[in-house]
Amino acid sequence: MTADLARKAFEKNTDQRQALEFICNELKENLDHYDWVGFYFHHRTEAKLILKAFAGEPTEHTEIPFGKGICGQVAESGENFRVDDVNAQENYIACSLFTKSELVIPIFIYGKNIGQIDIDSHQKDAFSRDDEALLKDINAVVAENIKLETLNV
Ligand code: SME
Repeated sequence: MTADLARKAFEKNTDQRQALEFICNELKENLDHYDWVGFYFHHRTEAKLILKAFAGEPTEHTEIPFGKGICGQVAESGENFRVDDVNAQENYIACSLFTKSELVIPIFIYGKNIGQIDIDSHQKDAFSRDDEALLKDINAVVAENIKLETLNV
């Protein structure tokens, strides 16, 4: 998999939510250790994340306050967060009882943290540097193509 899939997503879909969903679906379908894939974006005025697109089981955590869970921590830190064993994390929000590991990579526009991609895996220790690199590249393409004014967050 390469970030070309994200370029293709924005070429094929004029609706940006559908483009994000395309990316989520492609990642989940093509990478065995990706069991849930979602894009959260920072709310325009409030300190919370909004789920905009996902692939996998629906979650009730469609809004996450900054600071809460792995996602909320990345909203504040702006750093990649790889969790090899979610059960060992105290500040963690369970979306599925099957999830064993998680990887969250922030999205930056001109250096500003504006959202993130969140991957859950049913396998422990599922993620490597390769996943971090792939998702960072995908997020760069998302950052180039996304229009926050019309994303409704
Ligand atoms: N586990 C995340 C919440 C989002 S779900 O994984 C979809 C967290 O701790 O922030």
